[in-house]
Amino acid sequence: MKPEEQNKALDRWQASARYWDKYRVLIAQMFAPLTSGLVEEARIGIGQKVLDIGGGGGEPSLTISSIVGPTGSVMCTDPAAGMVEAAQAEAGRRGLTNIHFKQCSADDLPFDDRAFDVAVSRLSAMFFADPVTGVREALRVVVENGYVSFVVWGPKEANPFFSTTDVIDRFVEVSNQDPDAPDPFRFAVPGKLAGILANADAEDVVERRLNFQIEEKISFDQFWQLRTEMSESLRNKMAGLIPAQLPPVKEAVADAARRYFVSGKMSFPAEALVVSGRKSAT
Ligand SMILES: C[S@@+](CC[C@H](N)C(=O)[O-])C[C@H]1O[C@@H](n2cnc3c(N)ncnc32)[C@H](O)[C@@H]1O
Repeated sequence: MKPEEQNKALDRWQASARYWDKYRVLIAQMFAPLTSGLVEEARIGIGQKVLDIGGGGGEPSLTISSIVGPTGSVMCTDPAAGMVEAAQAEAGRRGLTNIHFKQCSADDLPFDDRAFDVAVSRLSAMFFADPVTGVREALRVVVENGYVSFVVWGPKEANPFFSTTDVIDRFVEVSNQDPDAPDPFRFAVPGKLAGILANADAEDVVERRLNFQIEEKISFDQFWQLRTEMSESLRNKMAGLIPAQLPPVKEAVADAARRYFVSGKMSFPAEALVVSGRKSAT
């Protein structure tokens, strides 16, 4: 990614930060299975020093801080200042003392070699400006034999939480995207991120498919508001519509999503990949 593209991408995350803060409780609940998957794969336990790369509004850092306990610590990082501020404010509200914050990008981590026991990243690797360097950096800053673990989305077809809103594309012009450009589904192809870890000399590289339900007691209207606020690409598409198009667009999405809203509850099947490896001891 060219530097000007990186800056634009960062501006977009900066603009999204207030929505990730607004929906923090829902986000934590909806994606809790992903945090559990990371904690399990990276063997996170009491007393460990954990690095969270692209921690956004604070997850999985906030959850991991209680797992590692007072003898351990978490360093929550993100390149968007607004994300770091939101995460830090939440840690303050909870009175957490074993969690620290640093504004930085995955491809240039301002930490010494072997500074952490483990590095994790939830739903962020797809947005790294340079994923190959990001993975190498994660391996550099963990101890020998330390785990690095990334969770990314599986294919869009297996994730109707996202694909149901694609009907908007019937109403707006959509440009063809480079499959290697930052996007939630950049690493959906099995083996793609695992290959980057293997090429970076990680050992015991494992890719696990994680199927779960994104469940919340929310209505379609609440889902619609959450999606159209949290997603920068949806915010842009919506901004490109004329007012008369808004009701038919919402109706079309409601039709596509109807079967996932039953008895006042949202329940989408979802698929992610947890990709992990260990730093070689040599
Ligand atoms: C989908 S959010 C996930 C946030 C959080 N980990 C979570 O699961 O709630 C993606 C995050 O990746 C961050 N990000 C974007 N580019 C990045 C980069 N080059 N290095 C590290 N993180 C990056 C964004 O700022 C954003 O906070």
